Amino acid sequence: MYKLNQIIEVPEIINNSKTKTGIKKCQIVQLPKITDHRGNLTVIENNKNIPFEIKRVYYLYDVPGGVERGSHAHKNLQQLIVAISGSFDIIIDDGYHKKKYHLNRSYYGLYICPMVWREIINFSSGAVCMSLASDLYDESDYYRNYQDFMKSIKRQKLK
Ligand code: TYD
Repeated sequence: MYKLNQIIEVPEIINNSKTKTGIKKCQIVQLPKITDHRGNLTVIENNKNIPFEIKRVYYLYDVPGGVERGSHAHKNLQQLIVAISGSFDIIIDDGYHKKKYHLNRSYYGLYICPMVWREIINFSSGAVCMSLASDLYDESDYYRNYQDFMKSIKRQKLK
């Protein structure tokens, strides 16, 4: 499991190889941090720090304690999720394996590929969860029901 005090070497563009699927393809991306006595600065650039073009940005904030967000998977959407402020946990699940990440730094992002169920839990007070997405909002790209997601995963395996 990813720990914050661990030194992680991350290539400029994360390994997006087609041979990797599911949660093996989901990785922590270390974003550039420009430290300054006036305050730090982190930058994210299309196709440089992340392997997709950003078409949409949205963020969750004012999340009451104990509330869970996410609980869905996407058919095609790629995302990078960053704890811009505060912290939360993300559980990712590709139907075969699950992994839990704790995000609490604005210079680490979690890349989530398509066909991965995610649950975002344990929001700290003041947490802001920013999501950079590879496409515009499209409800037809969602699996909102875990059983439907699992059926689709099993169908894909049979192909
Ligand atoms: P939802 O997908 O439930 O949020 P999360 O999975 O992050 O907990 O979205 C909440 C509502 O916001 C839902 O009605 C869809 C709408 N929405 C948009 O209109 N545009 C967007 O880009 C997103 C992410 C959600």
